[in-house]
Amino acid sequence: MKRVRKAVLPVAGLGTRILPAAKTTPKNLLNVFDRPILAHVVAEGRAAGIEHFVFIVGRGQGAIEDYFDHGFELEAQLAAKGKSDILADVRADLSDPGAMSFVRQMAPLGLGHAVWCARDVVGDEAFAVMLPDMLMDADPPALAQAMAAYEAVGGNIVVVEPAPPGEAHKYGIVSLGAEAAGFDGRLNAMTGMVEKPPPGTEPSNLFISGRYVLQPGVFDLLGAHRAGAGGEIQLTDAMLALLADQPFHALEYRGVTHDCGDKLGLLRANVAFALKDLGCGGEVRAAIEGLLDS
Ligand code: UTP
Repeated sequence: MKRVRKAVLPVAGLGTRILPAAKTTPKNLLNVFDRPILAHVVAEGRAAGIEHFVFIVGRGQGAIEDYFDHGFELEAQLAAKGKSDILADVRADLSDPGAMSFVRQMAPLGLGHAVWCARDVVGDEAFAVMLPDMLMDADPPALAQAMAAYEAVGGNIVVVEPAPPGEAHKYGIVSLGAEAAGFDGRLNAMTGMVEKPPPGTEPSNLFISGRYVLQPGVFDLLGAHRAGAGGEIQLTDAMLALLADQPFHALEYRGVTHDCGDKLGLLRANVAFALKDLGCGGEVRAAIEGLLDS
């Protein structure tokens, strides 16, 4: 089995839930504690062995390319002022030359359409999809957990997690079959998926949470451009069609997910990452307690 080397990161959505913050700044460049959401997600991909990142971008998102490239004036000024720690931190997020591709989606027709736009860059190999809105705080990183599952069972892997009680009907929910050995009951064959099942009909409480390993056969199915729920070309529909021919497994990953496409989720991610940071966890806690007491 070949290693998964490429990850597709669709960032061309309109981000309506987080407007007006995402009006002029691409939503995935909004901050979580010390760097943009996207930098955290790329770091997760790198830690999982990803060598090439394929961003699916929309109009007005050129700042994403600039973020992962050298900022010569800024770097020269930091160097001249001897601010070597800050310079190293700025450079830590840069990509190697040629290790990132930026593909324009041209119209936000849905997540499935965005992933389809990566077909030529990905080619004929298994690839990862990372939804950058979903910031997954996990050790090992969420995508690394998915890679371990892929190495064990092959096929297609979908990372899932339990929906909050009573909220399964708001998500894409999976149905499960036989358990795979070696993952403490967290890796199961997947027998189906349903988008936003009516309350009481959910086949499980596990929702598809934003990391996938997929076989390239999904591109042909996405190429049919069939609109699904909400009039959008849905990745779930293509995966359902692929499920007829190929094995899928659902991995319940170990970690905490922050939905940064939502105002409260982004705030929560900021607080969680700030609290975790050894340098200022105490200060953050004190600041929050001070606010709560005021
Ligand atoms: P979402 O539906 O969660 O993101 O898509 P959105 O459309 O940006 O957000 P809202 O609902 O309007 O607030 C999941 C992921 O797929 C990307 C989004 O950028 C997000 O990362 N996406 C979605 C695309 O790249 N293109 C699309 O046409 C749709």
